[in-house]
Amino acid sequence: MQNDKKAPETQWGLNEIISHCKEYGFIFPSSEIYDGLSAVYDYGQMGSQLKKNLRDAWWKSMTQLNDNIVGIDAAIFMHPTTWKASGHIDSFSDPMIDNKDSNKRYRVDHLIENFAETLKEQEAKELLDEMDRLLQADDLKSLYDLIVKYNIKCAVSKTSNWTEIRQFNLMFDTKLGSVSEEADKIYLRPETAQGIFANFLNVQKTGRLKIPFGIAQTGKAFRNEIVARQFIFRMREFEQMEMQFFIRPGSQMKWYEHWKAERKKWLEEIGIPSNKLRYHNHVKLAHYADAAVDIEFEFPFGWKELEGIHSRTDFDLKQHQQYSKKKIQYFDNDLNEEGKPIGNYIPYVVETSIGLDRLFLTVISMSYEEEKWLKEDGSEDSRVVLKIPAKLAPMKVAILPLLKKDGLPEIAKKIFDDCKPHFHCFYEEKDAIGKRYRRMDAIGTPFCITVDHQTKEDNTVTIRFRDDMKQERIKIDELKGVILKALQ
Ligand code: GAP
Repeated sequence: MQNDKKAPETQWGLNEIISHCKEYGFIFPSSEIYDGLSAVYDYGQMGSQLKKNLRDAWWKSMTQLNDNIVGIDAAIFMHPTTWKASGHIDSFSDPMIDNKDSNKRYRVDHLIENFAETLKEQEAKELLDEMDRLLQADDLKSLYDLIVKYNIKCAVSKTSNWTEIRQFNLMFDTKLGSVSEEADKIYLRPETAQGIFANFLNVQKTGRLKIPFGIAQTGKAFRNEIVARQFIFRMREFEQMEMQFFIRPGSQMKWYEHWKAERKKWLEEIGIPSNKLRYHNHVKLAHYADAAVDIEFEFPFGWKELEGIHSRTDFDLKQHQQYSKKKIQYFDNDLNEEGKPIGNYIPYVVETSIGLDRLFLTVISMSYEEEKWLKEDGSEDSRVVLKIPAKLAPMKVAILPLLKKDGLPEIAKKIFDDCKPHFHCFYEEKDAIGKRYRRMDAIGTPFCITVDHQTKEDNTVTIRFRDDMKQERIKIDELKGVILKALQ
């Protein structure tokens, strides 16, 4: 492949990524045969494997590589009092405003932020600072006045005929059993964290864990997002990977800084370029936090939150102690300065929380490339390639006989059978080899193995590398070892 004379790079954005994900079996709109369901998506044959690889990488880094973190898998449904105690029934809401002409509903911060993008830098900063101040003070009336003052209009009706601002709770509810009475109302969890808090004593006691220690969990969460947009960035059903780290009161800033650094380091270790990650301190703190920071990624639509690190104090355990009327405390038998055991306390918590779907979008966004180059004869060639880090790629190797005859498929199938217990392999014999390479590039397969006539003579095959399209000859005997080394 001659890609030394590169033509100018094409620009691509979220739309290209959405189409690509659908065309190659990564993500489909949910129940598409019925025209889909807003902000709900299904992962296809490639997507579910990539998602699993991301989940496994996170789980391993948390529970296997940290000897003081254990994993659990709590139920989605929890006793409804959980959400009263956690504050979600009273406070888990977003300020919304409706345009009376278009009936379109906006999250107030999104409406103002989008408008700020049309202003000069200084003016935008002043507006956003004022918005942050009012959001923090929960001053809905002044937020409304701000929208009126700047004459912010609805994108659909182009009018500024607004309702007053109201708070909307984001939790989905349903009924337990067959009786539809208020008493049986339960919620689909809006975060996985509460399953960890509710099990704090179970896990601490049965695991005989000593503070500091962590409990990790991955699982589905549900939020009735009013403005669900940007593909899998903001969904109504999504998956979280959360870890609550239980610590001594007073040590929270030390651990907050520790996890802030550790989580960014991990994101870089799995292959996210460091210049595409940054910290963003929260201005408006959630009802449970005394410090909070986002790790943001530069998505095709701008810098947005990928992961949150929150210092949650003893808020959650204290609330569950109060509402359950069960003592949720830890006895610390380490000695204090006076040589006596520190004794009982409610632990403080530092939480790390990342959306698996958002991490998926991050990996696809950073890997997607449209490449064009001029061949030696002057004609243009092109490909779409997903340069997914090999460790995370859904399919590791494609095994391709050059022709469908002369005994080449038999040799290729033997290699396939030999490799498949060790890593995900793909076998294909249909179409010209160039076309097959392109299909493997599009799903991000890092290695293609081609069996040709020379293979019959000297037991070698070509190995083609996805990223630079270079090819080398390699002995069949060495193949497995070379690939396993690259996947380490
Ligand atoms: N337990 C803390 C918590 O839930 P959060 O900032 O609301 O905090 C944590 O959510 C992470 O979950 C976010 O950083 C994001 O990656 C992911 N997330 C939140 N809402 C989401 C949604 N509607 N769709 C996809 N991912 C979402």
